[in-house]
Amino acid sequence: MDRILIRGGNRLAGRLPISGAKNSALTLLPCALLTDEPLTLRNLPRLADVDSFGHLLNQLGVSTMIEGARPEDFGRVMTLRAGRVTSTEAPYDIVRKMRASILVLGPLLARAGQATVSLPGGCAIGNRPIDLHLKALEAFGAIIEITAGYVRASAPDGGLPGGSFTFPVVSVGATENAVMAAVLASGTCVLENAAREPEIVDLCKLLTAMGADIQGIGSDKLVITGKPRLHGATYRVMPDRIEAGSYACAAAITGGDVELVGAHVDDMQAVLSALREAGVEVGVERDIIRVTAHQKLRPLTISTAPFPAFPTDMQAQFMAMLTLADGASVLTETIFENRYMHVPELARMGADISVNGRTAVVRGVAGLTGAPVMATDLRASMSLILAGLAATGETQVNRVYHLDRGYERLEEKLSAAGADIERVSDG
Ligand code: UD1
Repeated sequence: MDRILIRGGNRLAGRLPISGAKNSALTLLPCALLTDEPLTLRNLPRLADVDSFGHLLNQLGVSTMIEGARPEDFGRVMTLRAGRVTSTEAPYDIVRKMRASILVLGPLLARAGQATVSLPGGCAIGNRPIDLHLKALEAFGAIIEITAGYVRASAPDGGLPGGSFTFPVVSVGATENAVMAAVLASGTCVLENAAREPEIVDLCKLLTAMGADIQGIGSDKLVITGKPRLHGATYRVMPDRIEAGSYACAAAITGGDVELVGAHVDDMQAVLSALREAGVEVGVERDIIRVTAHQKLRPLTISTAPFPAFPTDMQAQFMAMLTLADGASVLTETIFENRYMHVPELARMGADISVNGRTAVVRGVAGLTGAPVMATDLRASMSLILAGLAATGETQVNRVYHLDRGYERLEEKLSAAGADIERVSDG
């Protein structure tokens, strides 16, 4: 199994190209199921999750063709075509490994009138039910049954009649599934208290390019008037705001000076304001965000919440950064109940963190020391990379497959900016 070795202490400087957004890619890919015409996605990040999603779509009858994949390029172009949907089932073995597989439910239901998708079960960051996905689809007229660990959804003849649903809790995935189901409904579907994450906007823009009628894009109320059919489109995946935020933290924790090239500043306001509050200089020029850290970081009080507030996907990285701040920070995780699995690993590197329920108090220490560590999820793994970049001595981050799910060529990008980081393979 691969590991990442970091010899910490180097100050990061230089340009870091930002890849296409993983979470956007994972909701744009299943849109291929909504039309029999080709869908071309540009700037798709080269990530294990994108490959796995492609394989799932292949099993459902979607052909996938990758173009222009020169090894030196970031991202790639994929053309997908679902001339005919040949299967409407996402089996347990696939959904278990990649939760985002649940996002085929809405499009399969819309296009084929039925879908059978394994219940995903829990994961490393919490219980993560899918009740809201199902309730929204039911509100639009779907018939939902749960048997033997599978959800079976079907639509009446002639498609989903439409309806209204108000989310009791903001859910990114449930909003995505509901929108993808609604675009081919025979009536109008209304979603209130919908998620407004930039990835949802990206999804709605692609669907609009495919001929869908969606009003209220970017707001928490979406009104979707179903169309009898959608057509193909070519679309560029938005830049990854979490990758950009993670590398901004890498600059901050190493006292560095980096340019995040291709980032969308509007998607990152909460993260950039938090960095500024910590004493980090953030400059923006067109699609380049320059992050410069000259001084010791100031402590912060942060609470995660749905967009446009501070994202839960940046909590672990900020925690790593704040382990070296000048004072005590307070982080509150309001989205997932179990998202502090990185705390004991950071503690092994010398961090002083105490957790009480959903709140973590991070008392800044003078320095971190390298150690062998491992994490149970993607963003937690990134927090250990960040700690390793600032620690004295060598840090060995195990379970690299988590990072490969979400950071395109991480060690290559960081070493180009001056980090002493390499991947080693036991095999
Ligand atoms: C997506 C992102 C993930 C991010 C999260 C929150 C992808 C592939 N993943 O995950 O990186 O951390 O948004 O920004 O885009 N909930 C329910 N019932 C449901 C659905 C969700 O109770 O049916 C709860 C969840 O347990 C959680 C909260 O709602 O407490 C938000 O989850 P949600 O926004 O759905 O996250 P995901 O879409 O799974």
